[in-house]
Amino acid sequence: MIDSIAISTGGGDAPGLNAVIRAIVRSAIKEYGWEVYGIETGFDGLLETSGVRRLESKDVRGILQEGGTILGTTNRGNPFEYPAKVGSKIVKEDRSDELIANFKSLGLDALIAIGGDGTLCIAHELFKKGLPVVGVPKTIDNDLAATDVTFGFDTAVATATDALDKLHTTAESHHRLMVLEVMGRNAGWIALHSGVAGGADAIVIPEIPFELEIICDHLIARKRRGSRFSIVVAAEGAYPKGGEPFYMQKSGGKDGPAVRFGGIGMWLARQLGLCTGMEARAVVLGHLQRGGSPTTFDRFLSTRFGVGAVELVAKEKFGEMVCFKGRRVESVSLEEATANQNLVDPEGEIVRVAEKLGVTFGR
Ligand code: F6P
Repeated sequence: MIDSIAISTGGGDAPGLNAVIRAIVRSAIKEYGWEVYGIETGFDGLLETSGVRRLESKDVRGILQEGGTILGTTNRGNPFEYPAKVGSKIVKEDRSDELIANFKSLGLDALIAIGGDGTLCIAHELFKKGLPVVGVPKTIDNDLAATDVTFGFDTAVATATDALDKLHTTAESHHRLMVLEVMGRNAGWIALHSGVAGGADAIVIPEIPFELEIICDHLIARKRRGSRFSIVVAAEGAYPKGGEPFYMQKSGGKDGPAVRFGGIGMWLARQLGLCTGMEARAVVLGHLQRGGSPTTFDRFLSTRFGVGAVELVAKEKFGEMVCFKGRRVESVSLEEATANQNLVDPEGEIVRVAEKLGVTFGR
């Protein structure tokens, strides 16, 4: 029997997190009369008793359209590998038993963990150790295979497309080549969707390692046809054929996830500027893609996911995650949810559409 539930938000934030929190709190209280608690800063809040607070309907008033998460988040708080200072060294400790014990001592009956692959993998491990948890998929990267789409993606694409519209006008005025670097980790979804919607001339994504020469020839041909500017979208994880991705940080650091991409935009602008003879500039869109008000689509999806997660808890379907299939909210096991990445199909319909419009992927 369920009396009280908790919510946590983990990993990088995404527009729509607050909409999920609101939907969970409102439906859990209205439909079931449960008490709802918010865990602060991902799973970290369960390792410190001060990190848990009661959420009433009034606490979620007016947050539907707000970016970020009222609970805070982190992409460092893995309870199975929790950083601890021993002398002058930082070591990793397994604090999962302590987390589960704290959860039980708070009298909580279920946890709804909202997060991307990292958070959902942790949730799955905690479930295997007995924590009653259900998941909600979140990520601007849209890289989870178990759901057709994650919330946050649509807003990130809208932000990137808006940036491309703005870059178009300045590129045209100055007869420049503009390269926009967008997020996405190993998946090229944000680059592909915004590149098509924003009318890019070249798009580079991790799923299609590119040949610089092909992009150069494409842009030179465009110049010869009288187009005095060009727009290139680069997914942060893209890399040249035979090469490797560009990293800001390649392995375990203290200020973020182990791998941080970055640098492809600047590199491409320089290389393409040299080979085309055009003046080139790079813009890194960065965390702007994670901020701001969620689009209508993301608010709608987040709200449906929040209510769907509460229904899973009510049915005590722990170890499951809500997902979007076709046009319906359904559920899959956390095991299946974390098994595969959703990557762009290089021979898929969207890539073909782009190529038929004359966009090059450098292949
Ligand atoms: O997974 C979401 C994401 O925004 C990626 O697209 C990006 O590579 C990463 O997080 C950035 O992480 P951080 O906020 O630690 O810089």
